[in-house]
Amino acid sequence: MSLTNEAVVAASQSVIDGLDAWRALPIKQQPPWLDAGAVIEASTKLASFPPLVFAGEVDTLRDRLAVAASGQAFLLQGGDCAETFAGATADQIRNRVKTLLQMAVVLTYAAELPVIKMGRMAGQFAKPRSSDTETRGDITLPAYRGDIVNGYDFTPESRLADPARMVQGYHTSASTLNLIRAFTQGGFADLREVHNWNKGFTSNPANARYDQLAREIDRAINFMTACGADFEALKRTEFFVSHEALLMDYERPMTRIDSRTGTPYNTSAHFVWIGERTRELDGAHVDFLSRVRNPIGVKLGPTTSPADVLALIDKLDPHREPGRLTLITRMGAGKIRDALPPLLEAVKASDANPLWITDPMHGNGMTTPTGYKTRRFDDVLDEVQGFFEAHRSVGTYPGGMHVELTGDDVTECLGGSEMIDEESLATRYESLCDPRLNHSQSLELAFLVAEELKRR
Ligand code: PEP
Ligand code: CO
Repeated sequence: MSLTNEAVVAASQSVIDGLDAWRALPIKQQPPWLDAGAVIEASTKLASFPPLVFAGEVDTLRDRLAVAASGQAFLLQGGDCAETFAGATADQIRNRVKTLLQMAVVLTYAAELPVIKMGRMAGQFAKPRSSDTETRGDITLPAYRGDIVNGYDFTPESRLADPARMVQGYHTSASTLNLIRAFTQGGFADLREVHNWNKGFTSNPANARYDQLAREIDRAINFMTACGADFEALKRTEFFVSHEALLMDYERPMTRIDSRTGTPYNTSAHFVWIGERTRELDGAHVDFLSRVRNPIGVKLGPTTSPADVLALIDKLDPHREPGRLTLITRMGAGKIRDALPPLLEAVKASDANPLWITDPMHGNGMTTPTGYKTRRFDDVLDEVQGFFEAHRSVGTYPGGMHVELTGDDVTECLGGSEMIDEESLATRYESLCDPRLNHSQSLELAFLVAEELKRR
């Protein structure tokens, strides 16, 4: 018996109603909007704008991530901690894409597997904060929550949460994504060109250690050229975008019912993740993302128990759908070797097969005596190595890496071959949030991770 029109309407209505179940649940990290009318106005506009990504692309990504979860691909996810509206310039976007492409070539060669490239880009504007306020001297103001909520300047006007910023967030994401699509489809991503950039990096005497690997890649490309390989196809590459799905008044109106399948897709990004601070099982964020079709991620910090992970998997991936769920561990270099194996064991013993990736940034933060938020390059590398060791010991697959990076020559993280020290942090510290690896540190990380991948 075919469904009556009313039944179809009622079924899709219940999907749509379910999408708003989060409104009745405990919710964290939302801005203190003052003007409810202005929030409705912004949400209504967002709901009327075209999607930024299409359901078919989202499905493709889920398939790619499924391959990674099965051990046959590697995910590289990276970009700013917090994108800014002012930072959405052609140069900065190009440099970040270029850095990710350069890293991906090295990782692809070493892993002998496809590398899925994903920016923390075109929407990474909302930030969770440990405190609702910030105090400087005797003035206390609302904390900066990312450009999509308020301004960074330390004045009452700038720190006021302004719903109209969500509309600007959409447009900035759209123009960023437009340029990313042009770069990755229009010839900029040509494998031979990307490799030439890497040779520029390894020809610096400080990076002589990586020269050997660059030469091997050179020979592989020359071999392919000699064989008459079709380089036309290698001028383009797939590239996906992602951000933390934090700001519900943005994520909800960007979520649409796909006309092909009648199911909800968050069309603000291909992949969205739930942060460490908003992943409680009965909270709004977990409920909302449990209902969208996108592949999703969850950050897992050092206090996560095996029972927490299994419960999150049951809620977010009840059908054990390949590629659906990525677990992003961010334990800290000193903790990962103890904290990660029990989680891997518990999941291995279950019927779930999530993709495990490492975020070696967020467990390794520190503040210098001079007040800079920074991270040591060596700690970042140590956490990545601990991640590989943990997976080797349990017999699970270390499927990717999530990093905060920029393509510019900033001085925000300590160490690396340029040996940035506490004094030089002041030279070019630009992040409004967490410190990022600069261009050279990012490439160095890729070469060092390549060594780990070759050992697998
Ligand atoms: C982030 O990715 O910038 C972040 C806030 O991470 P986490 O949720 O892991 O603390
Ligand atoms: Co961050």
